[in-house]
Amino acid sequence: MSDSEKKEITRDDANNLDRTLRPQTWEEYIGQSKTKENLRILLTAAKERGHAAEHILLYGPPGLGKTTLANLVSKTLGTNMKVTSGPAIERVGDLAAILTNLSPGDVLFIDEIHRLSKSIEEVLYPAMESGVLDIIIGKGPSARTVQLELPPFTMVAATTRISLLSSPLRSRFSGGTFRLDFYTDDEIATILKRSAELLGVDASSSALDQISKRCRATPRTANYLLKRCRDLAQLENVEIDNEIINRTFELLEIDSIGLGKTDRAVLEIIINKFNGGPVGLNTIAAATGEEPSTIEDVIEPYLIRHGLLERTPRGRVSTHTAVSHIEN
Ligand SMILES: Nc1ncnc2c1ncn2[C@@H]1O[C@H](COP(=O)(O)OP(=O)(O)OP(=O)(O)O)[C@@H](O)[C@H]1O
Ligand SMILES: [Mg+2]
Repeated sequence: MSDSEKKEITRDDANNLDRTLRPQTWEEYIGQSKTKENLRILLTAAKERGHAAEHILLYGPPGLGKTTLANLVSKTLGTNMKVTSGPAIERVGDLAAILTNLSPGDVLFIDEIHRLSKSIEEVLYPAMESGVLDIIIGKGPSARTVQLELPPFTMVAATTRISLLSSPLRSRFSGGTFRLDFYTDDEIATILKRSAELLGVDASSSALDQISKRCRATPRTANYLLKRCRDLAQLENVEIDNEIINRTFELLEIDSIGLGKTDRAVLEIIINKFNGGPVGLNTIAAATGEEPSTIEDVIEPYLIRHGLLERTPRGRVSTHTAVSHIEN
């Protein structure tokens, strides 16, 4: 680009996925109908009674809408939402500061709750159950416990790893535990239609259908792919059609069923190096150069749901579908 072509650079709000494309109402939040219905009943009834709603746990793979749902919960209750995360709460004092600063009815959103330390968890139990905070003052024989009354609050927690949560912690989400599911192609197409409008891009409906089929059934990925197609279409000065889609997917190395390089690497290792498995998680991680937690949280859920991989007690096994997909 020559100097004369240089443009002033402004903030691209339309490009900020979280701010602009994130649904602001229940109507805009597509899919997950059972979870939505349960939450609406829970929240509306609590609001009518004039009580803080009970605590809610949301879990499921990344990008399926947990944070978005937490925002909708606090909007529905008409209260403020304080946001924190498991790794951010390092000391009991951090948690005490957050809890004592809540206003009655506030939502406390704790993301990545599986990364909370044991000692913090134990302080959280009475806070969630009875609305009190037990603080130990002093050390040794003169130490004593002081109990602080907390304002009534609703905790909404999110995790990609429900299995890492202790059962005492899980049982304290008395409002319910909700698993977010992967989306259907039609649901993703609806989400993409709204996103295309918000981004102001022209895209044929068959092009949006293509993205829906190849986004790993995940809204965040669908929106990301739409933006990458938009970039290429802009450079070529055309609307997003099937040719733009195909070229974008080729550039991003995403295949016909939406698998990326790492997805395929995992399957290839199991099929080619270990004869279809079973293979242990750590072996797969070492061979692909990914963290075991990334494989477990991000890669595997979609491969399993797509019938390409199975988890057995002895390790991961590839399916016939995976073999015929990888060999073609
Ligand atoms: N049900 C939905 N309808 C429309 N768009 C959605 C929906 N769920 C998610 N999205 C879109 O996907 C993006 C990612 O969702 P969100 O950040 O809520 O996922 P998450 O489950 O919290 O992911 P992570 O586990 O990585 O934190 C949102 O910003 C939004 O644009
Ligand atoms: Mg989130």
